[in-house]
Amino acid sequence: MTDEQYYEFIRPYEDAKQMLLTRLDVLNHNLYGESSSRPIHNIQDRMKKKKSIEEKLKKKEKEPTVINAKDYLQDIAGVRVICYFVDDIYNLVDILKGQADLIIIRERDYIAEPKPNGYRSYHVIVGVPVYCLDGMEYFPVEIQFRTMSMDFWASMEHRISYKKKREDKEQLAVELREYANMLVEIERRFEQHNEVGQLHGTE
Ligand code: GTP
Ligand code: MG
Repeated sequence: MTDEQYYEFIRPYEDAKQMLLTRLDVLNHNLYGESSSRPIHNIQDRMKKKKSIEEKLKKKEKEPTVINAKDYLQDIAGVRVICYFVDDIYNLVDILKGQADLIIIRERDYIAEPKPNGYRSYHVIVGVPVYCLDGMEYFPVEIQFRTMSMDFWASMEHRISYKKKREDKEQLAVELREYANMLVEIERRFEQHNEVGQLHGTE
């Protein structure tokens, strides 16, 4: 895959990602009416780099071509939505699912069922319609919905787990699961404050 091929290949994925970012921004402003209770803390987005695409295709034992990237990879465009509360995540997912022009390609609820290592997040691959001269085509965008504490855990895990020496891998895994459980508990306590806040808000 040449640089030119790569840049041409990712353009419609960029467009799909941009459209989704706009929709999420609109939802963030309008979901609950009040600006003090917006569901989204922040959003990150990225395009998969040429090198990462090639490496992932090699791992899947495919030739590193744009055709294979299109056929086998669904995370060329990625958006990470960091929310305040778990309820916000389910609300946002429900609303996106209700937007008739989007299609849901894949869904993984690692909040209801965390990964064995403690990883939590709600993953949805959304097909976004992109219109060009020769018609419409859906392009996939991977969205990861997380609370701030899920993102904290995942970022730290990503940072430390692959750099550690092999002897303490098992001890580290035990600790990471422990931290994940602690964060679930902290999240639950903050949720109680949110419920109280909502009650006062309606007085
Ligand atoms: P990939 O081949 O990595 O795309 O995995 P997959 O196709 O099985 O999808 P999955 O939904 O499991 O994970 C996709 C993405 O979620 C990864 O690229 C990471 O960004 C994130 N993720 C999944 N599991 C973990 C984890 O254990 N730790 C961290 N830090 N991130 C994870
Ligand atoms: Mg992926």
